Amino acid sequence: MLKNIIEQVSLENPWRERIQYFDTITSTNDVLKQLAIQGAPEGTILVADCQTGGRGRLGRTFLSPSQVGIYLSVLLRPKCKPSELMHLTCASAAATCAAIREAAGFHPGIKWTNDIVYQNKKLSGTLTELSINPDGSTSYAIIGTGINCNQSIQDFPTEIRDIAGSIKMITGTEIDRCAVAAKLIDAWYDMSRRLLSEKNAIIDSYRRDCVTLGRKISVIQKDLVRHGTALDIDEEGALIVRFEDGTVQTVNSGEVSVRGMYNYV
Ligand code: BTN
Repeated sequence: MLKNIIEQVSLENPWRERIQYFDTITSTNDVLKQLAIQGAPEGTILVADCQTGGRGRLGRTFLSPSQVGIYLSVLLRPKCKPSELMHLTCASAAATCAAIREAAGFHPGIKWTNDIVYQNKKLSGTLTELSINPDGSTSYAIIGTGINCNQSIQDFPTEIRDIAGSIKMITGTEIDRCAVAAKLIDAWYDMSRRLLSEKNAIIDSYRRDCVTLGRKISVIQKDLVRHGTALDIDEEGALIVRFEDGTVQTVNSGEVSVRGMYNYV
């Protein structure tokens, strides 16, 4: 049960006192947003066994079945301009990658922007949302992550079976979901402390884990699909792409989705 998660969060992590557990919730991001508006402090964390209204990027639904995955969100209150947080999505992906590596013992990769993948299957997704005050300053940020832990292939709808995976499908054994969630909460805390002071180091470690780089990709924006090669990640976490017509452009995660030309990654 995720209920006992606090026991596995590091004693040095002050956020362990701010964890709230839900058996079932609509969406940890949505409920945390309400708490943020009411003044909840940085490090407030919601963890759920099941979501009935899980949301993904670009308006998609995020299936969040009971007892096999973990669904959690953290509230940040960074003291900086929103424009200084462009790398937040990459920082959160690097944190999830590290947490899975430590908890499960294998090294997953990051599919730009923040899908965690292993052998072409998606293990985790993150939705980062920013709220800006009327004067243009940052009010708060919410990072919400879902990780597939103990699903078998039959647990995924047929239409996503070729792209979805779980930790158990890789290691062959059930994983303690509390251990994975606790590692992520510790990684989030570590990330928050380095977020503004170690931007370059964060992007460097992201680049090392990013499996999109060097690949032929399709960049999909609404009905427009363009093909190219992923060249690099800039200092704000945007993807630099050389398109087939030879032009080199920077694409931002808010607008596009990216897929490999020959498979999901
Ligand atoms: C994606 O893959 O498009 C992002 C998925 C993000 C899912 C997580 S689960 C916890 C949090 N609550 C939500 O409603 N979404 C995020």
